[in-house]
Order: sequence, then C-alpha cells, then structure tokens
Amino acid sequence: MSIRACARPAALKAPAHLERYERHFAPIRENVGALLELGVHQGESLLMWRDYFPSAAIVGLDINAVSLPEDRLRIYQGSQDDTELLDRIAAECGPFDIIIDDCAHIGALAKASFWHLFDRHLTSDGLYVIEDWGTGYMDCWPDGRRFAPPPEIPQEFPSHSAGMVGFLKQLIDECALTDIRSGGSGYKSPHRLIGRIDIAMGQAFIYPFRECSWLLSTP
Ligand SMILES: C[S@@+](CC[C@H](N)C(=O)[O-])C[C@H]1O[C@@H](n2cnc3c(N)ncnc32)[C@H](O)[C@@H]1O
Repeated sequence: MSIRACARPAALKAPAHLERYERHFAPIRENVGALLELGVHQGESLLMWRDYFPSAAIVGLDINAVSLPEDRLRIYQGSQDDTELLDRIAAECGPFDIIIDDCAHIGALAKASFWHLFDRHLTSDGLYVIEDWGTGYMDCWPDGRRFAPPPEIPQEFPSHSAGMVGFLKQLIDECALTDIRSGGSGYKSPHRLIGRIDIAMGQAFIYPFRECSWLLSTP
C-alpha cells in the first residue's frame, strides 16, 4: 500500500511531500512502532499515517484541542516547545521511530522540540522530519525574511539565516562535527550526532548517526 493510497483530502500534505515520504518510509513501513507528529490541524494526517503504518501507534500534538476517537491514535494538547509535555508523551507512547514537525514553523520553536526529541526520544534507527522550513524566506512569516543575495566576500559565503532556514543551516554544522574537529575547533556539541540530512523543498529528513545498511540504499 502506498502513502498516496492512504492520503486524505483534508491533510495538508502536498503530492511532492507524499512522494518523498514514500521513499523514506517504505523501507521501514512494517517496522515502525510509534510515530509522533507535531501539529495535527484536523487530524487527517494522523489518519493517513495510521492507515499506512500497519502496526504503529500514531501520536499527535497540537496547541489546539483536536479529538479523534480512533484505535491506535492518541492526541495531546500543548505547545511543541513544552519539554515537560514532550517527556510525558514519550513516557506514555515513545520512543518514536518517526517524528514529524509540521507545527508552528517558527525557528526557535522547531529548534526547541527538535533537540529535545532528537536527543532523547527518537529511536536509534529513527528519522526526524521537519516540514515547511522555507517559511524562513517569507516576509509575511513571523520570523521569516525575504531572501537578499549576500555580497561576495572571498572565503566567506554568508547566507540567509532567518527563522526555520537559519535553524536548518545550524543542523548542517552539527552534521559536520568530524570535519569541525579535524579543522582544529574544540567545539563539543551537547547533542546526539546527526548522520545524514536530506533536504528538499519544504521537507528535511534528519537521521541520527548510525551504521545501518538499509539507510545506504535509501535515496
Ligand atoms: C500545518 S498545520 C498541521 C497540518 C497537519 N500536520 C496535516 O498534515 O494535516 C499546523 C498545526 O500546528 C499547530 N500549532 C501551531 N503552533 C503550535 C505550537 N506552538 N505547538 C503545537 N501546535 C502548534 C496549529 O494549531 C496547526 O494545527
């Protein structure tokens, strides 16, 4: 069964997003034990995940009250940066094989929930997805800013760093820790190692560092 076949009209997922989800999720579909989505709107994406992952507990979190009396599905109310609530959700339903942030799309909030969940509550074979990071290029977004090409400076390549965009670019530094140390920096990250980031328009797939054969065969 494909994700497209499970898609729901009211779920806020673009066709291109569904295709990328399919490529990343298909190899692990049967083995996913628990999925957490931050930001659930009317809950339609949770129903899609429930139909796609045959044996996963599907868990959602939203700032608004959302109720969906369905088997295998649980929804919490609260903010994505409430780390005590995230710990409680993980204690009751985690750890999670997949975590999807489709929530406020505000850099500081996404950063708070990413590091809390990635460090503590994502399985070692897990995958963390951040949606709609392009809001950082938008003047209309609370922490976004219109893209302005940076001036050319030899050896320096300053780039856009507002909101979600700046947060994601910080994750590239975290992915480069080996080279950062080889380069002579004494920087020690307080976080779990990132092994791979697959960035596409509107989606970033972030894998913890691990030796894993199926990962080598995913796109
Ligand atoms: C883009 S919608 C989610 C769409 C849903 N994942 C889907 O695919 O159908 C974003 C959701 O995030 C929720 N939200 C916004 N800020 C939040 C926050 N700080 N904490 C938790 N939820 C938040 C909104 O209430 C909204 O339902």
